Amino acid sequence: MSPLVVGCDAGHRFDVNKRGYVSLLASTSKVVGDSAAMLDARAQVLASGVYSPIVDVLIELARPASASEAGHQGAPARTSARAFRSDARPRILDAGCGTGYYLRELLGAVGGQGLAMDLSPAAVGRAVRSQGTAGVSDARVDGLVADTWQPLPIRDGAVDIILNVFAPRNVPEFHRVLATDGVLLVVVPTAGHLAELRAAGPPRDGGRMLDVPADKAAQLSETIAPYFARDRQENITFTIRVGEGTADQLVAMGPSAHHVTEHATAAADENAATFRNVTASVDILRFHRREVYRAK
Ligand SMILES: C[S@@+](CC[C@H](N)C(=O)[O-])C[C@H]1O[C@@H](n2cnc3c(N)ncnc32)[C@H](O)[C@@H]1O
Repeated sequence: MSPLVVGCDAGHRFDVNKRGYVSLLASTSKVVGDSAAMLDARAQVLASGVYSPIVDVLIELARPASASEAGHQGAPARTSARAFRSDARPRILDAGCGTGYYLRELLGAVGGQGLAMDLSPAAVGRAVRSQGTAGVSDARVDGLVADTWQPLPIRDGAVDIILNVFAPRNVPEFHRVLATDGVLLVVVPTAGHLAELRAAGPPRDGGRMLDVPADKAAQLSETIAPYFARDRQENITFTIRVGEGTADQLVAMGPSAHHVTEHATAAADENAATFRNVTASVDILRFHRREVYRAK
């Protein structure tokens, strides 16, 4: 397969650099993705397999809808999604891919071709380098450093599955690049996610970690409704056995790490040994693209 090249109508071309990905970020860009330290923490936590229940649901939702899903949550049955025709290799965009863990796992299960996109060059570099793991034999992962909030350098309708796990969403652009029968899979935390770690925060910092709105999934479904119809929503809540240092890694891998003060980190170190069980709780939503943008 030829390497990824991104081009525009004006004739500009962006080729794969020596690190193995295409970057659209200007060297002067001030937007910041996850740091190498955050990625290290996330890679270690994910490699331990503690979030594999999330992967299992993503794989189930990425597979063709079965007849038994007919009418589920009021949505029509869809049995022939383009992404899953036996003669097609689904094209999967992971928007805000981080280390690329979920993309690799999904490709390992359903095959296809992946585009790992993130604002963080370190993240995309990792996602590209780590392909070949998780049983992704004939799948391929291309890397793209780009800002989700900007127009995406992807053709209309070119993506079969958009994966969006704990990461920002550009809903109009997701709608534009998703194929008619494609699916958007979104994972958002619930208010109970890592609750024990939040509760342990020093009061003056308002908690070690950023709070999650109580109804994040409901808000998302409503915001996205003009473009996408939800047809499945699964809540999974499970307990993570936290070993030495894992509590710190769970904080360091998430968005709170952009805000954690030295004071809070020191407090986390002191508290880490006392944690045993931490709740993981997420909503996983599947959306289908509305044919036509439907104003609210
Ligand atoms: C909490 S991490 C989740 C990463 C990965 N999906 C996972 O769950 O392992 C959020 C990711 O979104 C990326 N990100 C944040 N803002 C972004 C933006 N505007 N455009 C693209 N990626 C962004 C971060 O660099 C980070 O890798």
